[in-house]
Amino acid sequence: MRKWILFTAFLAIVASCSTRSGWTEWEQTVIERSDSVMYVAVMPADSAILRAQSVDFGPKELASAQMQTLLDKMYRTLTDPSQDGVGIAAPQVGINRRLVMVMRYDKPGQPIEPYINIRIDSLIGPKNPGPEGCLSIPPYRGVVRRHPKVQISYLKADGTPVAEQVEGYSAVIFQHECDHLDGILYIDKADTVYVNEAWAAERENFNYDRPEWWD
Ligand code: NI
Repeated sequence: MRKWILFTAFLAIVASCSTRSGWTEWEQTVIERSDSVMYVAVMPADSAILRAQSVDFGPKELASAQMQTLLDKMYRTLTDPSQDGVGIAAPQVGINRRLVMVMRYDKPGQPIEPYINIRIDSLIGPKNPGPEGCLSIPPYRGVVRRHPKVQISYLKADGTPVAEQVEGYSAVIFQHECDHLDGILYIDKADTVYVNEAWAAERENFNYDRPEWWD
C-alpha cells in the first residue's frame, strides 16, 4: 500500500514537470519586477530568450493574478511612445509562452488584442512582399514575403476558445508575432534588411540597459 502511495506521488511529480504547471521563478520575477513599461529584449544581447521555443499556458497560470498583470504590462509596453509597435510577443518581454498582442487593422477602431496559446492553423494564399520591423531589432527594417490570410486558433483573455480567419496587414502581424513563439525572427526570412534612418534618429538616446534583476 505504502509503495503505491509513493509511486502515485512520483507519477504526479513527473506529470506536473512535463506540463510545466505554474509559473517558473524567472517568469514570476519578470511579471512582478518589471515596470509597467517592460524591458524589451533586443538582438543580439537577448538572443537566448528570443531564439527559444515558447510553450502554452496551463489552467493554473491562466487563472492567476500574474496573468492579468502580464497582459496589462505587455499592453502598456506595446502602446508606450518609446515602443509604439503594432504587435508584440511574450518572448520579447522575457516570457517564453505562447502569447502575442496584435493591432487589428481589420476591426473598427483598430484595437490591440491579446491572443493566448495561439496557433496558426493554416497560411492561405500566395506570399506578397512587404516592409517589416521588430521592436527587438532596432533600428532595422526588412522586406518579407507573407501570406495574405491566416486561419488562427487561440484563447481570449477570458479563456474563451476562438478560431477565425484574418486578412490583410493584421494577417502579416500574426505571422511575424507567431514566428517569435518558435524563436524565428523576420531577419531569418527577409529578402533585404536595411537601417531605418528615422527609427535610428528616434533611438539615438534610447536606454537599452537591462533591468538590474534581469541577469
Ligand atoms: Ni517582432
